[in-house]
Amino acid sequence: MKTITKVAEMRAVRAELSGSIGLVPTMGYLHEGHLSLVRRGVEENDHTIVSIFVNPTQFGPGEDFERYPRDESRDLGLLDAEGVDIVFMPSVDEMYPPRFDDWVELHGPLVERFEGAHRPGHFRGVTTVVARLIHIIQPDRAYFGQKDAQQLRVVSRMVQELGLPVEIIGMPIVREPDGLAMSSRNVYLSPEDRAAALVLSRSLRHAEAFVTSGERDAQEIETEVREMIGKEPRVVLEYAEVVDEETLEDIEVLDRPALLLLVGRLGKTRLLDNVILTPPA
Ligand code: PAJ
Repeated sequence: MKTITKVAEMRAVRAELSGSIGLVPTMGYLHEGHLSLVRRGVEENDHTIVSIFVNPTQFGPGEDFERYPRDESRDLGLLDAEGVDIVFMPSVDEMYPPRFDDWVELHGPLVERFEGAHRPGHFRGVTTVVARLIHIIQPDRAYFGQKDAQQLRVVSRMVQELGLPVEIIGMPIVREPDGLAMSSRNVYLSPEDRAAALVLSRSLRHAEAFVTSGERDAQEIETEVREMIGKEPRVVLEYAEVVDEETLEDIEVLDRPALLLLVGRLGKTRLLDNVILTPPA
């Protein structure tokens, strides 16, 4: 496995590769969620490139950019064991040279609601860095997790709008055995908060069962979920909403697949989770 830190070297090495290329963009501190993307990439491409870059432009002022967890040597060991060919780990200056002004920014409800509303500028940072990675690496396929459901849709929309010749592949959420969605930020949780956080995935399973039993009213589902999470005093609910699965626009009746998106805060830590709600035929 080769590690590359310079954009110019990455471009040069890429130019020498033939066959299909899979890209897995990450911010490191890897867990089984990331590795599920990596495994799929290794399976279906001739070469797999993983990027590790804690992207400053997608963090807001006062967010956790400085203290974002990092463990480079552990990450490299895990990726080597999966059969990854190249790890691209540029510095901030490499990705954002002086006078950088090449922003990629989408508009509209898909980027302005939910994470876009709670973290202004976040998606501009994500689309800019992902577009740049795609330009440098020119992958045939790029892999993203359903864990960040809105990000997955934003990236897919960007690729479509810019006409980038890459297939965006979404992968299911990987969870801990007790249901907590895996996240690099879970290390921030105290044991008490870690236990309390389970109410998030429990409320999603409850919503799923509610839909299976015939519920179609989006508001009823939201109310159930909000009440359930409201009973856990350690969790501050930022949002819990049932929306159209593709556009993330409001939906009243589940006459098509919907997405239940939620964010709960435990102390300073924001935890995202979601489930696709498919009404039985
Ligand atoms: P990061 O949080 O490191 O996540 C990298 C990829 O792993 C994302 O596509 C994310 O959705 C996926 N992922 C994280 N947890 C997962 C889980 N439990 N199950 C399945 N997939 C999971 O998301 C980012 O980095 C950044 O925004 C990035 C796309 C790299 C741009 O900077």
